[in-house]
Amino acid sequence: MSFNNILVDITFAVAQITINRPRKLNALNKETISELSSAFTTLENDRTVKVILLTGAGEKAFVAGADIAEFSNFSVEEGKLLAKKGQDQLFDLVQNLSKPVIAVVNGFALGGGLELAMACHFRIASDNAKMGLPEVSLGVIPGYGGTQRLAQLVGKGKAMELVMTASMIPAEEALGLGLVNYVTTPEELMPLATKLASKIMRNSLVAISGAIKAINANFIEGVNGYEIEINAFGDCFGTEDFKEGTSAFLEKRRPDFPNN
Ligand code: COA
Repeated sequence: MSFNNILVDITFAVAQITINRPRKLNALNKETISELSSAFTTLENDRTVKVILLTGAGEKAFVAGADIAEFSNFSVEEGKLLAKKGQDQLFDLVQNLSKPVIAVVNGFALGGGLELAMACHFRIASDNAKMGLPEVSLGVIPGYGGTQRLAQLVGKGKAMELVMTASMIPAEEALGLGLVNYVTTPEELMPLATKLASKIMRNSLVAISGAIKAINANFIEGVNGYEIEINAFGDCFGTEDFKEGTSAFLEKRRPDFPNN
């Protein structure tokens, strides 16, 4: 895979996507969004890839937002199209990926950057990271799912406050809010991500994709998450992984999941 704005590396079944526009603090322009979409789709279909890590190049930023220079002259219709296309092409794609996606937040995650991190299945951050949805300071609102996902993650009241004040919060505060799961030093961030990926890969990845689908179902309007869970649970009983997982337990040995 060769791209202009992102790097993709696959090591021991863990794919790392690095957004690579450090001079623009990895801001998401149209081409970067398109390349990310293409990379995630390719990795989803690559059987050798089990877990995906998403991070930003350089020491300063994960992603400092959508590329402001690109949309500053947009009309109402163009604005709507920008949000719709971005959500369909990338943010919803990431959220619904069947493989675990971890956002490795190594610096500023602002606007579209925090929205992208929130579309990932969970987030870890370095202690120098700063997060926020500052869009109202530009006269616009979050358009890549931020109003929905921030409220889901931190609750409605705190989401209202963070969006209204356009605040940039430090990683430790994000940890307290449940916006990120762990905070560590910049040096220890990628090793922690790799450790979490290894821990995940010991489990059945077929079962994990069912769990992702069921957890996500809770947040889809008009969908009964309990029904989705019942079906995904039942489907597990037809898998080789289930036979191996239960047999291994009964035989007091480590499972060797055939689909991993
Ligand atoms: N879109 C486009 N360019 C961006 C950008 C964005 N969201 N965020 C940063 N950049 C660019 C800057 O324009 C600058 O480019 P230049 O060197 O060609 O002038 C470069 O990245 C470095 O940013 P700079 O502002 O000089 O760094 P800083 O350390 O002084 O400030 C931030 C860092 C993150 C506080 C500041 O860049 C910022 O506020 N960015 C916008 C955040 C935002 O509002 N995001 C939501 C967008 S909807």
